Amino acid sequence: MTAQDPSAGGDAGTETRVFIVSNRGPVTFSRGESGEREYSRGAGGLVTALNAVARRKSEAVWIASAQSEEDVRVARESPDEPYEVEGLKVVLVEHDGEAYDLMYNRLANPLLWFVQHALYDQPYAPALGDDTKRAWEEGYVLVDENFAEAVARTLQAQEEGVAGEPVILVHDYQLYMTPLALRERLGDEAFISLFVHIPWPEPEGWRVLPSYAREGVLKSLLEANVVAFHTESYARNFVRTAREVLGVEADEEKGVVRSESGREVWVRAYPISIDPNEFEELARSDKVLQEEETVRDLPGKLLLRVDRMDLSKNIVRGFHAYDRMLERHPEMLEQVTFLARCQPSREDIPEYARYAEAIQEAVEEVNEKHATDSWEPIVLSMEDNFPLSVASYKNYDVLLVNAVRDGMNLIAKEAVVANEKNGVLILSENAGAHEELGEHALTVNPFDVDEQADALREALTMPDDERARRAEALEQTIRSNTIEEWAEAQLKDIAAYRERHG
Ligand code: G6P
Repeated sequence: MTAQDPSAGGDAGTETRVFIVSNRGPVTFSRGESGEREYSRGAGGLVTALNAVARRKSEAVWIASAQSEEDVRVARESPDEPYEVEGLKVVLVEHDGEAYDLMYNRLANPLLWFVQHALYDQPYAPALGDDTKRAWEEGYVLVDENFAEAVARTLQAQEEGVAGEPVILVHDYQLYMTPLALRERLGDEAFISLFVHIPWPEPEGWRVLPSYAREGVLKSLLEANVVAFHTESYARNFVRTAREVLGVEADEEKGVVRSESGREVWVRAYPISIDPNEFEELARSDKVLQEEETVRDLPGKLLLRVDRMDLSKNIVRGFHAYDRMLERHPEMLEQVTFLARCQPSREDIPEYARYAEAIQEAVEEVNEKHATDSWEPIVLSMEDNFPLSVASYKNYDVLLVNAVRDGMNLIAKEAVVANEKNGVLILSENAGAHEELGEHALTVNPFDVDEQADALREALTMPDDERARRAEALEQTIRSNTIEEWAEAQLKDIAAYRERHG
């Protein structure tokens, strides 16, 4: 897939109005004990990355769902005037409660997430039916239209005479129907991109969806000017899916799809990254230094994983692999502690609730089997404590990222940059990050428990010089493509697209 010549255009953002649209916002508001408004950082790696982009474009407005009660208050106080917080301009969108529940808990997370990460046990699931259609029509589509309404309102409320057509950067699988709704409201001139932060399956994987969603999503995405992914392979899968499912003209090599209405849609890969400086600063902060004391108290070498409790992360199989490694290599007993930082996620969805239980059961099982008086083989830590995660990034000897599938996995990048121990990275071949980092990591097939057990043993006993060599190469790779480059590449393509299409 050839990228457009970046020299063809300048920085698209200088004279344009940039809108970032995503389900999760950069902050969530709450009320403190004495009734004053407080806020905390939004969850997930996506928010961290978009934060870096929003800060780069000081005029950018970020439009996101109101999640908490206090968010709703903020949304009502200023429905289309951005609320300024932490140097960001934020518009929070209030959705109908039931529609949002159907979108989040019935359609986006169980269905689209499962299809795109290939998590279904297909002989049994999914069992689609009228309730799926209702979740689509009365939930997903409505919420996505509500986002488009909010963008249109915010645009309108901006002062007359603000230069340039808007650039609207829509993010992720919760918002697939927003490009269509935006195009209907804003017309052909607005520049719209949709960034898919999760894997895109092969066409047959996509065909699991009922036809209204299967085709509806694709048609909406082709109302965007650019559809973006983290890897070339997801981008290629998307081009093939559009061609096979909609029968539209599509060029896999050039990454161009022509929509039914004749629009040229560019399909691109921009591997997302992190801001290394942010993690270096965090690593030095008092809060992190404090948490490090706890981490350093753990006996033996430190094996680490940091994940949301999501089925795609393959947490249970990781424990089984560790169990097997301890069985086969009893000399490793008491020589290592597995710190599993597992953050509760999407708890109202039954599959997630069951997975959270399976994780805890697996931990108990391994600990019962191998624990000694002075040693707990796995320490499961579920608290929401970002400084503790960064403290553990600094100190791991081995980091396990064995996702079944993962769009990118920013933990791998954050942790490598913060690490001070020449830690070894064990990386699933199905994580997007593997395209960039695989060469310097120990690659594992996420389904092969024995291979993961072997990789754990190899990583934990790797000679120092090899550790140093790999760690250095990993860090350099990450530093050569930071969040700055990620944002820059997209803005250049936007300028190039506009130059070509007037
Ligand atoms: C993934 C998705 C994001 C999402 C994040 C956290 O990274 O790509 O869109 O925000 O997970 O998930 P949540 O459901 O808590 O927003």
